Amino acid sequence: MRGLLKINQPVIGKEEIEAVAEVLKDGVLTHKSGSGRRVLQFEKEFASYVGCKHAVAVSSGTAALHASLLALEVGNGDEVLVPSFTFSGTAEAVLLAGAKPVFTDIDPRTYCMKAESVEGKISNRSTAIVPVHLYGLPADMNPIAKLARQHGLTVVEDAAQALGAEYLNKKIGAISDATCFSFYGVKNITTGEGGMITTNDSELAEKLRSVRVHGEERPYWVTRLGHNYRMSEIAAAIGTAQLRKLSNFLERRRRNARYLSGKLKDLKKLETPTEPEHRKHAWHLYTVRLKGANAGKRNRVVERLRAKNIGASVYYETPVHLLPFYRRLSSSHRSDLLETERAARQVFSLPIHPLVREDDLDEVAANLEKILSRL
Ligand SMILES: Cc1ncc(COP(=O)(O)O)c(C=O)c1O
Repeated sequence: MRGLLKINQPVIGKEEIEAVAEVLKDGVLTHKSGSGRRVLQFEKEFASYVGCKHAVAVSSGTAALHASLLALEVGNGDEVLVPSFTFSGTAEAVLLAGAKPVFTDIDPRTYCMKAESVEGKISNRSTAIVPVHLYGLPADMNPIAKLARQHGLTVVEDAAQALGAEYLNKKIGAISDATCFSFYGVKNITTGEGGMITTNDSELAEKLRSVRVHGEERPYWVTRLGHNYRMSEIAAAIGTAQLRKLSNFLERRRRNARYLSGKLKDLKKLETPTEPEHRKHAWHLYTVRLKGANAGKRNRVVERLRAKNIGASVYYETPVHLLPFYRRLSSSHRSDLLETERAARQVFSLPIHPLVREDDLDEVAANLEKILSRL
């Protein structure tokens, strides 16, 4: 029997191993300014890939979000509109900046933030919107950008899962004030832990570089609140090697997603993922909905798949506004975010990462069909 077909896993080759060995031989593992040779190279290639002026490498996706909010001076007393159907790090960064996350609902077909819900929650304390491109599919950015313009709000995109995605023929990362990426171990590319912020605003890029090293303007001269959010030279060397393989990874994810959707199209109980016109999915996760199900029924399907060594997983079983810590803080109440709570009960994700083969997907589809027919 084959081993567990994981929901996501890094694809590491000799290029990454050699790149790390070179850094270790050089002996400069990190740089005190945060802008070592390898970091600069990674930033340059990343900005060029995304099609933006600046890329600033940091130590994680959460650091990217927090640093962006700090550099944009979002803080005390401010409200930041975020989706609740996301990884908790999105809202955590808002709290770390000293602001308050205000949770908004999603579009039930794309699982991304819905502008109508954002509009209903804008107040005179709102200063920023953080849309999340969940599973790698861009949120519908035009209506969100329009609201931001009307109300004078900043947009910081959480593209932790969406490296390689596009909106209206532009790469995600080249649209808003700032866009944040994650290179956590199982993201579309990885540096182990790591993150990147992209922006076209040169002044903001400078501030971000300062926030990344304790708010230093020059060595040991602190002019703002910052953090140690540097990326190491080791991580940057891995990142550059991974970035050069990204197009290939994305193509394999896309091919797998298309193949799996073809296989699942006759299963009436399932809603397969969508890719609306003018949006290009980065296929970080292939997420289906078990129509009309409650959480118990959905979880039974996931457990039965896992019993067959198919690493189905749920992202996210509990929306952020219902997590114990956020429940205490948030002004959102149960049933406030209907589509978010429904999606949390009904969705699950299936493996389509670059190492998944067609015969694996045949097995996923055949098992799923059998499980659903006996449900
Ligand atoms: C949507 C989203 N936001 C933020 C993060 C945080 O990124 P990191 O784990 O690199 O801090 C992640 C990933 O883990 C994520 O999926």
